[in-house]
Amino acid sequence: MNILILGSGGREHAFAKKIAESNKINQLFVAPGNAGTAAVATNLDVNPTNFEAIKEAVLQYNITMVVVGPEAPLVEGVHDFFLADELLKNIPVIGPKKDGALLEGSKDFSKQFMEKHQVPTAKYQSFTATTLQEGKAFLETLNPPFVLKADGLAAGKGVLIINDLEEAKAELEEMLSNQKFGNASSTVVIEEFLDGIELSVFVLTDGKNYKILPSAKDYKRIGEGDTGLNTGGMGAISPVPFADDAFIQKVEERVIKPTVNGLQKEGIDYRGFIFIGLMNVNGDPFVIEYNVRMGDPETEVVLPRIQSDLVELFEGVANQTLESKSYEVTPQTAVTVMLVSGGYPEAYENGKEITGYTNVNNSTVYHAGTKKTAEKVVTNGGRVMAVTSFGDTIEEALEKSYTSIDKISFENMYYRKDIGFDLV
Ligand code: AMP
Ligand code: GLY
Repeated sequence: MNILILGSGGREHAFAKKIAESNKINQLFVAPGNAGTAAVATNLDVNPTNFEAIKEAVLQYNITMVVVGPEAPLVEGVHDFFLADELLKNIPVIGPKKDGALLEGSKDFSKQFMEKHQVPTAKYQSFTATTLQEGKAFLETLNPPFVLKADGLAAGKGVLIINDLEEAKAELEEMLSNQKFGNASSTVVIEEFLDGIELSVFVLTDGKNYKILPSAKDYKRIGEGDTGLNTGGMGAISPVPFADDAFIQKVEERVIKPTVNGLQKEGIDYRGFIFIGLMNVNGDPFVIEYNVRMGDPETEVVLPRIQSDLVELFEGVANQTLESKSYEVTPQTAVTVMLVSGGYPEAYENGKEITGYTNVNNSTVYHAGTKKTAEKVVTNGGRVMAVTSFGDTIEEALEKSYTSIDKISFENMYYRKDIGFDLV
């Protein structure tokens, strides 16, 4: 098979490495990729949301399957584009069509979906500019903190958690009347605050059956002790110790089954990943959000633990034969620590030479924001590299990652030294 992966982050490097291990692979491409994917695949200079350019690449390189990394191409309809094209319609795309991608593309849709299919989630109501006053009145009926969510995609910044009622009302007005997040906040979901511990569970589904992938916990804040600004993720751990068999069974019965069945009932033929963001509230799972893709950096700990052939599983997704595919996971713990550019998630500089990473041998270095120039590899993004290690315990795995990180350097490199602090 010739597979094309869309995307350019650590998630896509992890996909590329895993897919490259399959003996079903003939040629592997990543668009646009990074310096890491260039070592295991051929990078193509194609933007993942430029569907015409993707079509050209698919035909030129005889691509036989497309794996979509980020949400934007899915929400914009890359899968629908393939199905509507005579030359592309038989090439499987791993990732949902537009209708399924709404689970991530619209918080209002996903909340309605959960309510309808009885998936446990926080109580909510949605408002628009014309119902601003009702929104303010609804806030008065809730206890702080107040959770305000822009309906649409807002680059991970569309969720506000506010303690003060007056401030929450003012922010609601900013979002609805002054387009704080542009079109994304023309509808706002206000929901009850859930007090618990967060984790994520990943599912791969062919629309009928599913495999439950390893759980992971991600560390979203820039600062140690989970402080400071939100980022795309500063590190991750898999499995999550408190997500034991009993908890995962609750997630399967209360969340995964009603979600997969609900998609079927809605007539949504969903083939791809479902990333379920959960809050564990006193042992009971509540859904915070769905994403229609894998997480980054969660992928850098989830995929390395999967011992089965990922391409086999993808074929199962494409042909709706997932149930018959073998699926094995190592019980070992995987951790990843993200190295970021100083200044991230605010302004930072690109183009800093990265050294030492080729000397790492006890960990896997996944490139996120890197670029190959004529003679060196340089930083090319806020999140630069994810350093993944295995261990029998979280501590052992972390020790390996931090020792490996000592070998790597670039100007203004920053990373959290406390990944897993709340679990060990
Ligand atoms: P989201 O973009 O929906 O993942 O929200 C971003 C973050 O806000 C989540 O990772 C949670 O930490 C937090 N969050 C979202 N919804 C809630 C809620 N209802 N209760 C508590 N925290 C929440
Ligand atoms: N790490 C969180 C995400 O990928 O959405």
